[in-house]
Amino acid sequence: MLVKETLLKIKKLGIETDWNDAFAGKSKGNRHLFRVVRLARYMAKRLSANVSIVEAGAWLHDSALPSGNDYDYKKNRRIVKKLLSPFNLSTREINAVAECVAAHEGTSKPKTVEAKIVHDTDVLEKSGMLGIIRHTWKMANSGMLLPGHITRKDAAKILNHLQWRSKKLQTSLGKKIHSYVTIPITQAKAQEIISFVAEKAVTGIVTEKIAHLIYKKLTAIQQKRLKEQMNQDYLRRF
Ligand SMILES: [Fe+2]
Ligand SMILES: [Fe+2]
Repeated sequence: MLVKETLLKIKKLGIETDWNDAFAGKSKGNRHLFRVVRLARYMAKRLSANVSIVEAGAWLHDSALPSGNDYDYKKNRRIVKKLLSPFNLSTREINAVAECVAAHEGTSKPKTVEAKIVHDTDVLEKSGMLGIIRHTWKMANSGMLLPGHITRKDAAKILNHLQWRSKKLQTSLGKKIHSYVTIPITQAKAQEIISFVAEKAVTGIVTEKIAHLIYKKLTAIQQKRLKEQMNQDYLRRF
């Protein structure tokens, strides 16, 4: 059963994987999982989904990252099922959590309301200014960007990825939050931000510190929304 004690162990496992194993420990201390869990639990309550399944899926959603990437539905599913095997869970619970993890990157349509929620919370972390920072961080530390040589094409690729993910949003609540946190940005401005973020990211500076460092490069409304994304104050509006 997904009792409180099991959820705490799953939380610990998710954080350890994200902080120590993914990206060789470079993202240690980042708050992505904490924001995803808070938002996912909020959405689960609003949408009458199973809150425990959503929470477990949210803590473990990026658990395939240490294997190199987390885009493959079947691989994600295999990895999380193995991680869940020591816990005293039913096959139904394991499959329900695994679906949340397997489908979170939008490469496969989530089959359950719980998986739709975990998917959408991750899309919202890849939206707006926070999304630009986070996707740049991931690309730079996956060797897919060359810091110091960020081109217009790189900027377009990152913006296109965020747009691709937003088109896959599954819930109307997710869509509403997305349109609130997303502020238009020119490709030139995005290129400037991405160049700055990529250089910091490869030295192991986490998202939250980078967000703090780029505030002065942003317009007032971009600053406001980025702050709201970091502290999730926007939740009061939805
Ligand atoms: Fe992911
Ligand atoms: Fe994620």
